[in-house]
Amino acid sequence: MAYTRKWNVAVVGATGAVGQQMVRLLQSSAIPLANVVLLSSQRSAGATVAFGDAELVVQEATPDQFTGIDIALFSAGGGVSKQLIPEAVQRGAVCIDNTSAYRMERDVPLVVPEVNAHRIADHRGIIANPNCSTIQLVVALKPIHDVLGVRSVVVSTYQAVSGAGARAVAETVRQTQAELEGRSVTPDVLPVASLPIKHPIAFNAIPQIDVFSSNGFTLEELKMVNETKKIMEEDIAVAATCVRVPVLNGHSESVRITCARPIDIDAVRTLLAQAPGVVVVDDVQNQRYPLARDASGCPDVFVGRIRRDLDDAHTMHMWIVSDNLLKGAAFNAMQIAEHLTKQEGARS
Ligand SMILES: NC(=O)c1ccc[n+]([C@@H]2O[C@H](COP(=O)([O-])OP(=O)(O)OC[C@H]3O[C@@H](n4cnc5c(N)ncnc54)[C@H](OP(=O)(O)O)[C@@H]3O)[C@@H](O)[C@H]2O)c1
Repeated sequence: MAYTRKWNVAVVGATGAVGQQMVRLLQSSAIPLANVVLLSSQRSAGATVAFGDAELVVQEATPDQFTGIDIALFSAGGGVSKQLIPEAVQRGAVCIDNTSAYRMERDVPLVVPEVNAHRIADHRGIIANPNCSTIQLVVALKPIHDVLGVRSVVVSTYQAVSGAGARAVAETVRQTQAELEGRSVTPDVLPVASLPIKHPIAFNAIPQIDVFSSNGFTLEELKMVNETKKIMEEDIAVAATCVRVPVLNGHSESVRITCARPIDIDAVRTLLAQAPGVVVVDDVQNQRYPLARDASGCPDVFVGRIRRDLDDAHTMHMWIVSDNLLKGAAFNAMQIAEHLTKQEGARS
């Protein structure tokens, strides 16, 4: 489908870990751009960002900034989305939201284009980007589900600090240097910046991402459960344990999948190798499997260590790795924007 018009695009949270990737991807995107508006809080307003041959000045995000905007990419936290998305929608923008603010609302499509791109057309002004850990999981589950019928998933994550934003990355580097030099460290961002109790991330693994719910799961774990069901099928049983590890970028997941039909592992490997957005790296003889450091900077979902369970012919295990800032956030949002502009362009 050819593009028929140019688009005014705003990036909210343009100075953040995800926002910077969005700005970078926007420059090479297929979307014909008219104006690009970069928005942040008052703190970064006035900063300049190179965009192609131009220098764009970051501005404070206020409702009036959305006048004339066609697409607004939001990545500035749930509170900002709650406050500014209604203002942007009222002014005619379609908002693609990276936060959890609207993901579970019934009339908001929750989209991973490789899985449910058809839902984009149902939007009423807001399209939600799922949680980073959910996105890479469902990209790998979808081709398996279509053929074997996924019945249950147990996932343990090994999540990079970039998933907690630019401050968490800086804290990890600072703490690691301090520890190596024998200096004591006072953690102040992780596991949750807004909670008083902090834990060191350097040389550690923290089994808490986001706050705990009364059922003992963290909100990050519940996002993986609820979002996977919304995107794929309510009947799939999902259990998650989310762990922050001192990897700078790239989330890894150990996943146990039980299917309705018995599993032929070679057929699964072929299915995954042919699936959109998936790269199979699975050659254990040569110690080749997905690694966070290799995945960082790539838009794909990497799958390896694919093996059948020793006791159950309907169950298999695999290792899924992806760049949480790209496929887990900015790249997925940009894919949605590209689908949207093609659809809406065709209608106008
Ligand atoms: N990191 C990931 O892997 C990932 C993946 C999926 C979704 N997300 C979600 O994306 C959002 C951003 O994450 P991040 O990791 O990019 O965070 P981050 O690095 O901390 O960046 C936050 C961005 O939001 C801006 N901001 C903060 N308060 C604002 C306000 N009141 N008005 C306007 N802009 C404001 C910041 O601007 P200043 O420079 O002015 O502070 C900055 O640009 C979060 O909701 C997060 O849950 C993150």
